[in-house]
Amino acid sequence: MLIKRTRGWELPERLATPESSYLKRRDLVRAMGLGAAALALPSAVMAQDKTAPDPSAGLYPAKRNDKYGVPTPMTAERQATTYNNFYEFGTDKSIWREAQKLDVRPWTIKVGGMVEKPFEVGIDDLLAKMPLEERVYRHRCVETWSMIVPWSGFPVRSLVEFCKPLGSAKYVVMKTLSKPSVMREQRDLLYPWPYTEGLAMDEAMNDLAFIATGLYGKPIPKQNGAPLRLVAPWKYGFKNVKSIVSIDFTDKRPVSFWEKLQSSEYGFWANVNPEVPHPRWSQATEKPLGSDARIPTLLYNGYAEFVSGLYTDRKAEKLFI
Ligand code: MTE
Repeated sequence: MLIKRTRGWELPERLATPESSYLKRRDLVRAMGLGAAALALPSAVMAQDKTAPDPSAGLYPAKRNDKYGVPTPMTAERQATTYNNFYEFGTDKSIWREAQKLDVRPWTIKVGGMVEKPFEVGIDDLLAKMPLEERVYRHRCVETWSMIVPWSGFPVRSLVEFCKPLGSAKYVVMKTLSKPSVMREQRDLLYPWPYTEGLAMDEAMNDLAFIATGLYGKPIPKQNGAPLRLVAPWKYGFKNVKSIVSIDFTDKRPVSFWEKLQSSEYGFWANVNPEVPHPRWSQATEKPLGSDARIPTLLYNGYAEFVSGLYTDRKAEKLFI
């Protein structure tokens, strides 16, 4: 993800995709002499042994559900698990090693806000209650790279029903763990941590909205958002908040992480549309991970038949940024 702030930290359009060529925000901050206190903090957290077997390993592979199509060609597992966006661990795409420092057990998810009764649930208790399945989805990053991967997990709808929101709730808000001792970029206070995202309730209840707890028939790797992350495949990838620790229901539209940073470039709805360019680059095509060729991007990332109805009464909104 690239950041544009009115203070002139603007990055040129040519930097939209190739991670190797884009200037990191940390360098920009340094160049401006900002964030000195944050940058002075120790940069390394000693690696601990996080190699204990995942207690949920026996749940995978889950039975595949192909109701929403099985797009091809599937991205190679190595590509999808070594080219990641997880800014808490670093601003480049090769954070997978750093992300191994994340401890994903025990893992508690707090449910609150407009619910019948706030509660906490451990990830393994939650997994035991949810209907696990596998779905092969397209993923389209706003930076114009894309992938096709088999997620395992359960519908967001099942999670919402489990949380028992009040009828007056209009949005569900999900947040990533806050742990600056391990997630070292969280020491940079210029970012609005923790990473926060949300869906309108009807989006959350749509069949496509998914919570991934597995990938390629195994527990989801840490760098991809273990132990649970959102997958809304018709939206730009930044909606898919990783390593969720809180789920809140509210009647006020939340302001998400990237929207707080630059609302003119990253909005709440963030639906994929090849005809609506990002303010600094075209969204007409995408580059599948592992491929040299660009391919056309599809409206709602190819899922229009399942989701376009959500937006018929929202035409006045900025649906595609
Ligand atoms: N969630 C958190 N907590 N932090 C992040 O930096 N990046 C988002 C999204 N979820 C991000 C996040 C972006 S920009 C994308 S494209 C996807 O995660 C990337 O998911 P992947 O690494 O599994 O491909």
